Amino acid sequence: MSSTHLSPDPSSAAGSAPTKTTFRAHTDIAFIKYWGKKDEVLRLPENGSISMKLADLYTTTTVEFDPQLKQDVVKINGLVESGEELRVIQHLQRVRDLATQVSLPLATASARVVSNNNFPTGSGLSSSGSGFAALTLAATRAIGLRLSQKELSILARQGSGSACRAVCGGYVEWHDADTSEGSFSETLFPADHWTLSDVVVVVSQDRKTVGTSTAAHRTAGSSPFFITRLQRINQKILAVKTAIAEKNFGQLGQLIEAEALEFHSIMLTSQPAQIALLPGTIQVMHQVLQLRSKGIPCYFTLNTGHNIHVLTLPTHADLVADSLQQLPLVEWVVFTKTVGDPVQVSDHLL
Ligand code: DP6
Repeated sequence: MSSTHLSPDPSSAAGSAPTKTTFRAHTDIAFIKYWGKKDEVLRLPENGSISMKLADLYTTTTVEFDPQLKQDVVKINGLVESGEELRVIQHLQRVRDLATQVSLPLATASARVVSNNNFPTGSGLSSSGSGFAALTLAATRAIGLRLSQKELSILARQGSGSACRAVCGGYVEWHDADTSEGSFSETLFPADHWTLSDVVVVVSQDRKTVGTSTAAHRTAGSSPFFITRLQRINQKILAVKTAIAEKNFGQLGQLIEAEALEFHSIMLTSQPAQIALLPGTIQVMHQVLQLRSKGIPCYFTLNTGHNIHVLTLPTHADLVADSLQQLPLVEWVVFTKTVGDPVQVSDHLL
């Protein structure tokens, strides 16, 4: 990471006393998916991606570095043994390494971390993206670092790829690059450029059947269609950016739905096959097609899990949500929309 902006935060206490910091970072929904990695350690994706940040699905994380503490203590969704603690501790170490470069007093301190999602974890709703974004923002601030937006994005990416986008707000682009320095995200358009509604449909709260995204990413290259995907991806990214710039919902919807189906085609044709779709997921897809045949503008997209996002215009959101809520295989729907940057909050979790 460049040291251009890497410096102690003059506004923070930056002493050796513990300072609690809490950030809330929203999840995003990828319009063009990050799928497959060029470099697994640095989390350099095979292609660039585009997403929209979501107002009502978020992770809140409090971090406190304390020189008196013997080791890092990590509590996620109320559990000390969440299965994710090792990955969190590795990320805390990246933050400590940066703090060591600028000789911050807390650079060798252990940390307490408490993190909660307000939505089901590990079910395809991008909890690792919002989780590692909130962790990056809270930990760097708590230790007394001041990083640029680009540096925060690069750092967050190393915890979880999609966190690279989740430190930004509105409509976000993660640039394709062969180096860690070049692989960061930026806001393409702020949230108030265009408010879209997203009806997030939960068909099961269970963890996804395909396991973690990290493991599933490794299978991408085994699909015979992956190369074709990569050959076409830059023109798709351009088309999505144009549709957002022109606020052309019909165009955007067609592109993101086709992208979601292409992405699942890659998963289905990988070795071993990654079958994430549940009966409820398919039921929602058919209902979206039905609604569209009646002139209601709505399009679906989904990640590696079974829960599914239905994008629509705010004027149609109630109708779309009501119609999906009534499906027998739908557990519940969360009604959300485009949102801006992550926020620092004063209600600490510890
Ligand atoms: C399908 O960011 O969860 O949601 O970098 O291994 O943590 P890791 O993977 P992760 O992958 C997300 C993949 C996706 C598409 C996307 O969000 O772009």
